Amino acid sequence: MKARHIVSILTASATVCVIGIALAAEDRFTLKSPNGISFSEFRDYAAWPVVASSMPDDAGGCGSSPPPGCIKAIIGNPVMIKTYNDNIPANGQPVPDGAALAKIEWRRKHEVSAYPVSVPGTFMEVAFMLKDSKRFPDTNGWGYATFRYDAASDTWKAFGDNPEFANTCHGCHTLVKASDYTFTPYPKR
Ligand code: HEC
Repeated sequence: MKARHIVSILTASATVCVIGIALAAEDRFTLKSPNGISFSEFRDYAAWPVVASSMPDDAGGCGSSPPPGCIKAIIGNPVMIKTYNDNIPANGQPVPDGAALAKIEWRRKHEVSAYPVSVPGTFMEVAFMLKDSKRFPDTNGWGYATFRYDAASDTWKAFGDNPEFANTCHGCHTLVKASDYTFTPYPKR
């Protein structure tokens, strides 16, 4: 009887917990970037496969992380992973519509484990690139959006004051026009 009571308490708290997570996720996905891209367009991003990781040599290469900088994971949706497997954009072919990439940024954290190592610390932001040539003709088919997270208040907000913020993103990504404006190749694994 006592054991059964404990089981029902556990079940009840698990249910509350699941509802709590669903609500928090729902809130975040109501955000919209100033250029009209909704966070909800990337609802399943946390499940996308890893393309690569990166760690800028100084904090200047980090979107919202102050010194000592950040550590990042670049991930891609299934269309983008297939694209890499088809050797695009390395072969100079354009990335197809529907492909999307994300870059997750954490503050860099030094840890002394079995050996000193940099690992993800506080989560800071997630940046997206979405290919849709009809929707984003002015930026060579790529739509850009970044959503920033404030750990202290546990809140999210869309980055950018006006739709033109995306021109700054694309301006820098134009450096890698030859790989259809994407910096990160898909390394062997
Ligand atoms: C000053 C140059 C610069 C600007 C501005 C810039 N990026 Fe990038 N971006 C990079 C570099 C370099 C990488 C690859 C290295 C890394 O992991 O940071 C990258 C990588 C990415 C990736 C992973 C896919 C890829 O191309 O490798 C995404 C997604 C991304 N950026 C989105 C954005 C968004 C959204 C903005 C604007 C809010 C933006 N970027 C602005 C330089 C820039």
